[in-house]
Amino acid sequence: MRTPIVAANWKMHKTCEEAVSYFRRLLELVPARREVELVILPPATLLFLAQKHLAGSGIAWGAQHAYPEPQGAFTGEVSVTQVADLGASFLVCGHSERRRLFGEDDGLVARKVRAALEGGLIPILCVGETLEEREAGRAWEVVRGQLAAALADLELPSPERLVIAYEPVWAIGTGVAARPQDAQEVAARIRHWLGERFPGLGERVRIQYGGSVKPDNASDFLALPDIDGALVGGASLDPESFWEIARAA
Ligand code: 13P
Repeated sequence: MRTPIVAANWKMHKTCEEAVSYFRRLLELVPARREVELVILPPATLLFLAQKHLAGSGIAWGAQHAYPEPQGAFTGEVSVTQVADLGASFLVCGHSERRRLFGEDDGLVARKVRAALEGGLIPILCVGETLEEREAGRAWEVVRGQLAAALADLELPSPERLVIAYEPVWAIGTGVAARPQDAQEVAARIRHWLGERFPGLGERVRIQYGGSVKPDNASDFLALPDIDGALVGGASLDPESFWEIARAA
């Protein structure tokens, strides 16, 4: 049995005040007993507020980015160690916005995944093809390549300590979600591939879908056999809409 996991990727949104009112409202909305794991992924400046306001709530939180070296002369960066020290549980690795806008290549993604695992964080490894790659029939080839690169040389991770997010690039922030059957097909292939690469992992690892998930389409994805949750951008910025999505799980 895989516990569903729904995560809010705030991207570069919210001030301190906005974050605090979000946390307060979310805590009002979310019942103490629930069958879905919730994860909030605020920008780095707001992580300490997540630590303060979500402590003891059972709602997990993590970072959208961290640099894999433990310390050093890396101006502007925050390390995995520092994020873990603050009490974070998750780290997004390989998000397409970081790959595309900030030159995060497969090598750096692999180092982040490894550093996260070694530092006690759970990587949410994002993979996904562009529209061009999908139209050329290369979606799975691209996703498989990203998985293989990011997980190269790793020992068998514990299934609880790895989350995969399938996020087709063309579905992110566009309002055009993938067709559920396409998301299911890729998720099933991811699961099968992981099972072959790491015996025993496939059945137990959690796979999220991300890309224009909204309250009105969340259940289409969350009902799919190989999708165990969602990585939500825009619709996660409002606590009501985020909780409505999470409830669909
Ligand atoms: P949207 O939900 O805004 O499409 O963003 C998805 C995403 O990139 C989550 O990481």
